[in-house]
Amino acid sequence: MRIGVFCSGGDAPGMNACIRGVVRCAARFGHETVGIRRGYQGLLDEDFHLNDERQPLLTSRCVRDIAKRGGTILRSSRSDEFRTEAGQQKAAEVLRKRNIDALVPIGGDGTLRGAAKLSEIWDGSIIACPGTIDNDLLGTSYTIGFATAVQTAVEAVDKIRDTAESHDRMFLVEVMGRSSGYIAVFTAIASGAECVCIPETPTDAAELVEDLKAMRFRGKSSIMLIVAEGDERGGAKEIDKLLKEAGNPFSTRVVILGHLQRGGSPAPMDRILGASMGEFAVRGIIDGQTKMLSGIVGGENRLTPFEEALAGHNEIPQRMLDLLETLSH
Ligand code: F6P
Repeated sequence: MRIGVFCSGGDAPGMNACIRGVVRCAARFGHETVGIRRGYQGLLDEDFHLNDERQPLLTSRCVRDIAKRGGTILRSSRSDEFRTEAGQQKAAEVLRKRNIDALVPIGGDGTLRGAAKLSEIWDGSIIACPGTIDNDLLGTSYTIGFATAVQTAVEAVDKIRDTAESHDRMFLVEVMGRSSGYIAVFTAIASGAECVCIPETPTDAAELVEDLKAMRFRGKSSIMLIVAEGDERGGAKEIDKLLKEAGNPFSTRVVILGHLQRGGSPAPMDRILGASMGEFAVRGIIDGQTKMLSGIVGGENRLTPFEEALAGHNEIPQRMLDLLETLSH
């Protein structure tokens, strides 16, 4: 069997470990892997990874020592062409022409949606792996890249806290996550931030300012507010403005962490998740499974049908929100 693997959408630390898991599992059971560069667009352009012999094959040798590297050796992209029906038909034709029997797309919900579309018109097997820092997919407790993104954000907040304390200031630190507050909540818990603004809970500027005044009264001199980029009241800049208008007693600065959160060497947990999910996807393909997401739920590898994985978003457990509330007292 010939298995295609690619990364699509925003890169996430741990994608390389996932590619390695796919390639090594395929090799173990006597199958070939083809590396498709630049996601769905690369598939349309027939842009394949070439090995040392200039063949379009991703061998065990090609993936040695890549698990520690950030980004993805296969590159990534967001393809407008693949979103069209004509693009999807063309992708299916390329797969037939290249004798590819199965696919392992690695990416977030856009990638998964693309895989579901492709699976309606192409009869090869598709098992996707959740590669995104956002941790917003159903069918897995954690996505590949989330742990590293949180680690990077926490290291940044710890540093910013030094300046906040030295200057008696409040910092609003904006983190990524698209429409999910997962990165914000985990960053806030781990860094000891005083408050958080996330899309999952209403952000009320007047109420926040009352809390800030109470903190000031209790003698707190530095404040860290973690803002999820998807908060319904806007990003850190917009929230800073709202708080000022509502009478924020602190002098503020805004820091947007941005793409810093997607880079860097993956944390061991992301390397392990990536390897395990990639390997399990190939095992699923060998077992004849298709239209599934390869995730880990409660420590166990699990395949979840595309339609279930796409039916909603991974909710932040209430327990984590309660913990955050307790810690801010
Ligand atoms: O989905 C990953 C992510 O980093 C989101 O957190 C963020 O909103 C988005 O991608 C940014 O995308 P781009 O790199 O295309 O600007």
